[in-house]
Amino acid sequence: MSNIDKKLLVVGNWKMNKSLKEAVSLAHDLKAILHDAPELLMKAELSVCPSFLHLSDVSKELDSVPILVGAQDCADNENGAHTGEISAEMISDVGAVHVILGHSERRQNQGETSEQVAQKVQKAQAQGLITLVCVGETLKEREAGEAYEIVESQLEKSIPENVESNKLVIAYEPVWAIGTGKVASEEDVRAMHEVIALFMKEKLDKTISIRILYGGSVKPDNAGNLSRIQHVDGFLVGGASLNAESFIGIAHAIEGQ
Ligand code: PGA
Repeated sequence: MSNIDKKLLVVGNWKMNKSLKEAVSLAHDLKAILHDAPELLMKAELSVCPSFLHLSDVSKELDSVPILVGAQDCADNENGAHTGEISAEMISDVGAVHVILGHSERRQNQGETSEQVAQKVQKAQAQGLITLVCVGETLKEREAGEAYEIVESQLEKSIPENVESNKLVIAYEPVWAIGTGKVASEEDVRAMHEVIALFMKEKLDKTISIRILYGGSVKPDNAGNLSRIQHVDGFLVGGASLNAESFIGIAHAIEGQ
């Protein structure tokens, strides 16, 4: 998509942070800021992803405002005997409209494979959820000149053949930029987003543009420049989404509209 004719999607990934009270209070603060600055919604669609335990209350708190709510993962199975798991059906039932899948923290810490991510995409889309699939290379892979190959292979395996393109968003998050304060250079972001856009056009229906978000140390002071890059259709934000001012500050900083 060109940056002229679109709103950017800004998604806050709250990860394993906040008490229930703090999560609802953050949602309340976002609602209050948006009430005073409704023009922000001309530039950005906003979404927050609290922990599973807080989804229902955060969703209720944001019921009256156009801030979407999503989950950070879902099971690769339907409801049944899967102790400790949370199904896409349960997520959708409490008001979430999308789900982050294949985040690098899950790929690294839970050993989640791209094949599992593809299963989850299918289960989530079957429940009507928008699936936000994360891909990204490690520093070692980038330094070895393998970044494009790794990301293409993750896309190939994480996106199932029968994917519904209109319910798919990709998030490019270089692993070394997540939570480190190191942002990928604008040239690296531009080049990778172009590779992803081309790859997705080849793999899927060529007429549909898939939104591609950038993630990795996005802050209000770098979001403006990043938002001008072609094929950057929004941001997946971790640390800076834990505070209402900095999260909204990212939406404020969006340029190129
Ligand atoms: P960060 O996290 O903004 O704290 O780098 C991004 C993410 O993990 O999605």
